[in-house]
Amino acid sequence: MTESYRNYFGFQREPFRSDPDLKDILETEQIKGVCHRFDYALRLGAPALVTGEIGSGKSTALRYAAAKLHPAEYRYLWITAVSGSILEIYRLLLAELGMETASHSRATLVRRIKKEIIHLVSEKKMKVVLLIDEASLLRLEVFAELHTLCQFEQDSKAWLPLVLAGQGSLIDKLKYPGSRPLASRIVARAHLEGVDRTGMEAYLMHHLRLAGVETPFFDDTAVTAIHQGSGGLLRSANHLARGALIAAAQAKCTSVTAEHVRLAATEIF
Ligand SMILES: Nc1ncnc2c1ncn2[C@@H]1O[C@H](COP(=O)(O)OP(=O)(O)O)[C@@H](O)[C@H]1O
Ligand SMILES: [Mg+2]
Repeated sequence: MTESYRNYFGFQREPFRSDPDLKDILETEQIKGVCHRFDYALRLGAPALVTGEIGSGKSTALRYAAAKLHPAEYRYLWITAVSGSILEIYRLLLAELGMETASHSRATLVRRIKKEIIHLVSEKKMKVVLLIDEASLLRLEVFAELHTLCQFEQDSKAWLPLVLAGQGSLIDKLKYPGSRPLASRIVARAHLEGVDRTGMEAYLMHHLRLAGVETPFFDDTAVTAIHQGSGGLLRSANHLARGALIAAAQAKCTSVTAEHVRLAATEIF
């Protein structure tokens, strides 16, 4: 099915991929907003937030901003929270630092992480940045403890800036009293909304170009239907756009209409 729609529209590769290469990321106003706040937080050595709904482009924006950091100057530690426990975070951090993560007490894990970060900062003269994706999954105890890892208290010149990305519930968790030491230090927040209709049109065209075509296959009704159906959220737009292309190819149509988008919508959530 995939092959035939690709041939039908003359795509050189799959459009609307879920894992765009860095060079294929569209530099939207939203992404620029994330980059500005990211740089600001790094300059101040303070925490920042990137929030938005599922599929709004948070991880992509974070990846884009992190990739701009010069590798000779910066070392970023990227963690994606899974279970959300503090031990998991410490183990993921150690793994990211290339260190052995076998069972140790919590205190030992923290000591080893701090030692390695101090080594990177003081001896290797690197600027270290901690990025936590899916931070809305973190348990409350993590928010209460993270700031000690970043050593805000003892050292006025903070040496571990932190960027947390997650859904809106991240804000609720940061409002708890235990999260206060961390929350009170946050200097910037980028909130990613769904794109508007013009942004959606540009986004769809961007992906068609990446697949090697210049023809705007989506007609106006299709753009509107994808925009409305996805709420401007890009992951959902990817699915609708791909599904609509497949439906149009099966019907041997040369352009994609709202009807094809509607057919695609019946197969996805
Ligand atoms: N700036 C962008 N350029 C190209 N594709 C993007 C961009 N932002 C998001 N996407 C697409 O949308 C999908 C969802 O984005 P993602 O960053 O995973 O969202 P989130 O982390 O908010 O759930 C990505 O897999 C990618 O295909
Ligand atoms: Mg994500």
